[in-house]
Amino acid sequence: MMHLLSISDLTHKELQELLDLSSELKEQRGQEMDALRNMSLAMIFEKPSTRTRVSFEVAMTELGGHALYLNYDDLQLGRSETICDTARVLSRYIHAITARVYSHETVSELARCADVPVINALSDVEHPCQLLADLLTIREYKGDFKGLRIAWIGDGNNVCNSLMLAAAITGMTLSIASPAGYEPDPDIQSQARELGCDLTITHDPVEAASGADVLYTDVWVSMGDETEEEKRLRDFAGFQIDGNLLCHAKSDCIVLHCLPAHRGQEITGEVLDGTQSVVLDQAENRLHVQKALLMMAMERI
Ligand code: CP
Ligand code: NVA
Repeated sequence: MMHLLSISDLTHKELQELLDLSSELKEQRGQEMDALRNMSLAMIFEKPSTRTRVSFEVAMTELGGHALYLNYDDLQLGRSETICDTARVLSRYIHAITARVYSHETVSELARCADVPVINALSDVEHPCQLLADLLTIREYKGDFKGLRIAWIGDGNNVCNSLMLAAAITGMTLSIASPAGYEPDPDIQSQARELGCDLTITHDPVEAASGADVLYTDVWVSMGDETEEEKRLRDFAGFQIDGNLLCHAKSDCIVLHCLPAHRGQEITGEVLDGTQSVVLDQAENRLHVQKALLMMAMERI
């Protein structure tokens, strides 16, 4: 049974197959499909979501299946039923579980106890579904991954952790510029390097962005970090993707942001809404990759 807790749960071959299937499904969108007929997906959310929730739900609908949005506080989980009992009971009704959680332990425990595939829809440690969409977007604009230079500017957070592993699997060179104290998880840095990632960690955004094919950023205050907001806004000053930083990248560099964005903080409105930004394609691709992921996880390909 396939769980997706980390992007590194996929081999290079599985990742390529998933992206190929995603492209096919993207082309075929609008045709009637029933690959997931009679299949149901439970979607547990401890945190808010726009893209993840809607794209998973639409993916299930368009493939002939059904998705159930389960707000954590509306479940008995919120009244201290155990994660394990929840996983075992849900496994008697449905065919896969996605969960967006504060603590990665929660999604790991769901996977340990469930008899169906469990997909991490964002935890404090990783956001693998986001990376699937990012990789499809990069492949659409740049072709092959090998040799591409990608720069991450800002917080070494959950998305950045998954990016390190994705870069390792696909052979992209990755440079990360974060303020001191906000570097990505050291264990995941080591894991990415062991997987062969050409990884540089710096405190200089210009150094990271120089010669980049792809610039990527995310919010300075992730869900769960709200109590640190004031300090973070101070600490991240200078780590914004703006027109000047973009000039250090290659002239055909594309700009990614997983969204939601805060114009004027991690990125200027001019860049986010500018000609090099591909953030709407990136957001759309969540739908196509998750269709492919669900078909693979539910063994319907
Ligand atoms: N990028 C992303 O996961 O967006 P949502 O928080 O809206 O799901
Ligand atoms: N790093 C952000 C990603 C949101 C999609 C967060 O965890 O809030």
